[in-house]
Amino acid sequence: MTTQHEQLCPAHSDPAEKPETRRRRPAGPVVAAFALVASGALVGVLEAGWDPPTSHLTAMGLALALLCVGVLVGVRHLLVVQTGRHPHLVGDRWWGTARSAPRPAPARTGPGRGHAGTGVDRTAAAEFLELFHAENPQAGPARPRIDAVLREIDRTGTYRHTPEELTFGARVAWRNNARCIGRLYWQSLQVRDLRTVTDAASVAEHCFEHLRSANSGGRIRPMISVFAPDTPTRPAPRIWNEQLIRYAGYELPDGSVLGDPRYRDFTSRMIRHGWQPPEQRGAFDVLPLVVETVEGPRMFQLPESAVHEVPLEHPELSWFADLGMRWHAVPVISNNRLVIGGVSYPAAPFNGWYMGTEIGARNLGDSDRYDLVPEVAERMGLDTSDEASLWRDQALVEINRAVLHSFNANGVTITDHHTESRRFLTHLEREERAGRRCPADWSWIVPPMSGSQTPVFHRYYDAEDREPNFFADDEAARRALQGGPPAIR
Ligand code: ARG
Repeated sequence: MTTQHEQLCPAHSDPAEKPETRRRRPAGPVVAAFALVASGALVGVLEAGWDPPTSHLTAMGLALALLCVGVLVGVRHLLVVQTGRHPHLVGDRWWGTARSAPRPAPARTGPGRGHAGTGVDRTAAAEFLELFHAENPQAGPARPRIDAVLREIDRTGTYRHTPEELTFGARVAWRNNARCIGRLYWQSLQVRDLRTVTDAASVAEHCFEHLRSANSGGRIRPMISVFAPDTPTRPAPRIWNEQLIRYAGYELPDGSVLGDPRYRDFTSRMIRHGWQPPEQRGAFDVLPLVVETVEGPRMFQLPESAVHEVPLEHPELSWFADLGMRWHAVPVISNNRLVIGGVSYPAAPFNGWYMGTEIGARNLGDSDRYDLVPEVAERMGLDTSDEASLWRDQALVEINRAVLHSFNANGVTITDHHTESRRFLTHLEREERAGRRCPADWSWIVPPMSGSQTPVFHRYYDAEDREPNFFADDEAARRALQGGPPAIR
């Protein structure tokens, strides 16, 4: 049995088994150059007065045809070169290739999970279409569409959503997601329909474009990019990273970590597979994006134009900026599976904007993340020898003030936990008025600081899961932290 390492490690794979990794002979430019030179020469001799055996007109036609061949071959060669060698690809080859017909990981149990290899659940499809037609009366009655979809499932094992169904489904997946406090704006989600995109380099490029477009100069737009779904015959692409932008965590000789300790294993795995960190390693080095397709996993370096960050400073504590803290502007979750009417879209990265506590209280505050509280408390001159001085709480508040202040000062959308809690209650009221139940998970909804100061703390919620939804599969969660194993075996 081969180990995971052997399966993945480029050093153990034989290039002879992988014809797609071999260089193409550059025949294109030779043909193009020959055709261009020949057409030029022909025109030249004609102008010089040489009378060819055929008529002048035929010779001119021949020159023109040669010229066209030259231009066409040249253009085609350029296109092949540009798409074949992706500018952001790390390394030049796959980590490993699927040896036989690739298939998705075995079907899982649980809501929306009986899809892979087994075909779409007919009841799930029909229920979704009922919902779509009930909430979109302009689309007409549901019955004809349901009948057509059931026939399509009988024939192919799956079906294709219309663009309207896809957009509605993605928005409702957000509306149904019990962990999200920011659902008031669920109808504003912009849906990028990228279902025809299946190759790794194009997925990566569209992810970078998603980041640029969602950032939108700081006025962050909630957005989702939906790539090809799983089908019974072909597994969909997958993005391994938890979010499109995540920071590396480098294990140091003394066992401590430079950067984000959450991604220590992922980082060392990427380095083993050929990712080269910046020469000067830092606490905020953006990790490469890993896109897995039937051809294996591939790494892509994010271009600078896709990564918007905010350097952190405090409105009063001038030394805060010297800590060198920063955070990325847009949180794009990239390893959740979007399920709509029984169809599974494993690659469907989506974003909203940040609530300050996600960065200030958790990413920077957690002791197993950037663990900033003790250092800030020291710099503030607090009494850290006595828990009852509440130095942790005081320092945490200042870190969170720095986050909100810096995002605002940089014109990047962010929200505070008090405002967002109130908005969530408005959302609940609206949903109730629309006659819908709104699933919510108290442990995710209540902010990680000053919980009892927010109205969302003082009540309970309907916890029942609904579809469409986003699912955080165990294996995908593991891959995002450990950098493997591959999903498509
Ligand atoms: N908590 C995650 C982070 O700190 C982001 C999760 C999504 N958050 C959001 N506001 N849409 O990066």
